[in-house]
Amino acid sequence: MGGKVESFLSDNCPPMGIYETLYAFRDSFGQFMGTEGTHPWSQGFPLTTPLEKFGGPSLPSSVDVTPEDRFYPKAWGHPALREAIVDYYNSRYGSTITPENVMIFAGGRPGIYTVMAFLKEHVQVSIGNIEWPAYLDIMEQTNTKYQIVPFTKENNFHPSNASYYDRTGLDPDTCMMPVISNPQNPSGQTRSGEELRELIEMAEQPGNGILLDEAYEMFHSPSVSGIEFVQDLDNSNVFIAGACTKGLQSPGIRIGWMIASKTNIETMANYSSFGMGGVSHPSQHYAVKLLEPNRVKQARKAVEEHYNWQRERYGKAFEEMGLGVYTGNGGFYHWLELPEGMTSGELNKRLFKRGAAILCASDCDMARPHSKDPSYVTPYERFFRFSFGPLLPETFESDIQLFKEVFDDYRLEIQGA
Ligand SMILES: Cc1ncc(COP(=O)(O)O)c(C=O)c1O
Repeated sequence: MGGKVESFLSDNCPPMGIYETLYAFRDSFGQFMGTEGTHPWSQGFPLTTPLEKFGGPSLPSSVDVTPEDRFYPKAWGHPALREAIVDYYNSRYGSTITPENVMIFAGGRPGIYTVMAFLKEHVQVSIGNIEWPAYLDIMEQTNTKYQIVPFTKENNFHPSNASYYDRTGLDPDTCMMPVISNPQNPSGQTRSGEELRELIEMAEQPGNGILLDEAYEMFHSPSVSGIEFVQDLDNSNVFIAGACTKGLQSPGIRIGWMIASKTNIETMANYSSFGMGGVSHPSQHYAVKLLEPNRVKQARKAVEEHYNWQRERYGKAFEEMGLGVYTGNGGFYHWLELPEGMTSGELNKRLFKRGAAILCASDCDMARPHSKDPSYVTPYERFFRFSFGPLLPETFESDIQLFKEVFDDYRLEIQGA
């Protein structure tokens, strides 16, 4: 006896990069990000209060819970919520999905994790060199095979659709499954119109599929979904992920969904029957309220206008400061480059002291080793993601003032060195 017991669990399970920034912030500033006086520019959540300036509707404050709601939920989701999601997509995007094409999850992440966990051996993911940090953790933990699609200044951080289906050097029997957030986290680059039509057309070719993550669907003019262009969902490996997390302003209710062929939905529902047990009824009822047709129309318009306005004015301010702005026209993040000699890691250390933080682009680098390797140098050292998702309209001037002070001090320091 004696000695330390070895954990039975994996040694390679660090928290997602964003959480690491949060812990480093707390260690430096002495308080958690989000407490009063902090500036959550690293955080990926939206405002959870009505967007009054643009006529945003109120958010439901309660749901009824009946004895039936205390039963076990259905593995695939509550019929009322599946129906509400079907109505939402079919009325907004002219699609013809049915409730059997919808599977409910406890947020966006569990749906994405499930799809990746059940991919067959010969299915290979292709993923942008920068993407939402969680994808890397999910791919690692599910032993998903993946290849990286270049994201560079030369391609304006917006590679062609075809580059996601590049089979060079692969076994001809390999099936290709791009994973793309659209609008993209972290860059805001968005595929819409003809470009999105082409992407979906490619995804429906034999041997191809796609996991199109539309968490930021409403943060674009107009809102954007690949479902608009899907020809034969039931005969495809198209997976479209959605959630109440961003556009419906409710990350805390933990409701997300996957839209896919009936066959693929059945597999996920079977998994739910033994691995998940369905999703909370009160949360699903809340989501039905959020999706009430008149409410959702009003909400979509307000989200689009509020965040377009914020994207534009923050972008202009960053440009005036001398940062490189490579943001696309969607989402609620700016994708920014520091001048030569500076790094986003060093910028963050200085921001931490003032109660602020950004997300270093290295956390979004899908080509980095998952287990930390100090010898790896990311090609995105000077890049970072600035989130204006949680920022109230009235903090714009003070946010820019604070950022500028820290940035100018750091720049002077570099120039004087
Ligand atoms: C690209 C992307 N997909 C999905 C999600 C959904 O996350 P959640 O599991 O909180 O619904 C997020 C949230 O940050 C995201 O940025």
